[in-house]
Amino acid sequence: MAVKLDDIVSLAKRRGFIFPSSEIYGGLAGVYDYGPLGVALKHNIQNLWWSSFVTAWEDMYAMDAAILMNPKVWKASGHVDTFTDPLEDGSKFNTMFKTSAGVGKEVSTTYLRPETAQGIFVNFKNVVDTFSPDLPFGMAQIGKGFRNEISPRDFLFRLREFDMMEIEYFVHPDKWEEAFEQWRAGMQTFFKKLGLHNVGELDVPEKERAHYSKKTIDFEFDFPFGKKELAGLAYRTDFDLKAHQEASGKSLEYRPKSPPAGGNSKPFIPHVIEPSFGLDRLVLAILTEAYAEDEQGGEKRTYLKLPADVAPVKAAVFPLLKNKPELVKKAREVYKMLKDELGEVMWDDNGNIGKRYRRQDEIGTPYCVTIDFQTLEDNTVTLRSRDTTEQQRVKIEGSLQMLRAI
Ligand code: GAP
Repeated sequence: MAVKLDDIVSLAKRRGFIFPSSEIYGGLAGVYDYGPLGVALKHNIQNLWWSSFVTAWEDMYAMDAAILMNPKVWKASGHVDTFTDPLEDGSKFNTMFKTSAGVGKEVSTTYLRPETAQGIFVNFKNVVDTFSPDLPFGMAQIGKGFRNEISPRDFLFRLREFDMMEIEYFVHPDKWEEAFEQWRAGMQTFFKKLGLHNVGELDVPEKERAHYSKKTIDFEFDFPFGKKELAGLAYRTDFDLKAHQEASGKSLEYRPKSPPAGGNSKPFIPHVIEPSFGLDRLVLAILTEAYAEDEQGGEKRTYLKLPADVAPVKAAVFPLLKNKPELVKKAREVYKMLKDELGEVMWDDNGNIGKRYRRQDEIGTPYCVTIDFQTLEDNTVTLRSRDTTEQQRVKIEGSLQMLRAI
């Protein structure tokens, strides 16, 4: 089914995923706020990324570098001179946000970072000095990026403030091709975990590549407004470390700890493979992929077929009637048991059961658990599936086991 962007924007607002920033003042172009369910969805994606690419790897070092950096970083990295988009009149416009730090005579102009990558490059020496890693190894970071995009558009696609998840993977110059292929495959596996099974790959032609890249693959997703870049994989060579070594006067060479027999232990500047993910674009792709409509009982139903791993709510618990204290008491017990174990569990006793199912369907909750009078007699509940709408009677313990396994 062709999904319309307006439908996603409207569901995201209606159900508390994403709101326009400072909306009561008319908003701010290219900036959005995440509400409770959007935060949960975003955290789940981040956690999956972190477990897939940081904790699962022996040779990955986490970073959380500051947004503000010495402005010399951006001169050396080439961003001051080349991070530009042409304006309509043909002049050049640098898309880095300028800001100032300090007061009076001490004031200096700096920038909000347009990529998290530079915070990693300038800490390369710190990590090598403190952890003595063997090559290859990576440094990973999740954090905000800022770009004063000339025309922000398409909801979360082109923002002025966004979240990035980036890895700089340092390799021997002779080994970049195999590392590039390893990351290409790893990124595809990650997209599949998010339920994105049709992410295409575009080998970006030289004239369209960033100034630092010798090879780039854009991972493309079919957004409602066309096939567009979702994430990127770049071979940044030794461009950045070399540039920072020259500009700072500090050696950023790597000395091999254990060269192979007869091998060379001469220091060199490692090369870099960079898998870079825009978190907000992933959120938009996941919502697009998951958005579905069907007909249930003669009525149109909208639901999100989110993979359970990313769904903001794993299960919702309802007492059949909210004015029957014995049902509410039992339902609270079941709710607490599920919440203690699964965390992302919601309580809902508003409106009739049909309305509660619809609300949970719209936010992508895989299962709903209803407590009714039979529960009081035999400790069974109704477990209802979002995707099939089928209901089955299971023991309370059984429902927990099933939910654990999703
Ligand atoms: N460090 C590499 C780098 O910054 P990029 O292709 O310019 O490369 C990486 O950005 C990713 O960040 C993109 O693939 C996209 O997912 C996301 N991204 C870039 N600009 C964005 C914007 N204005 N709004 C939302 N996401 C953006």
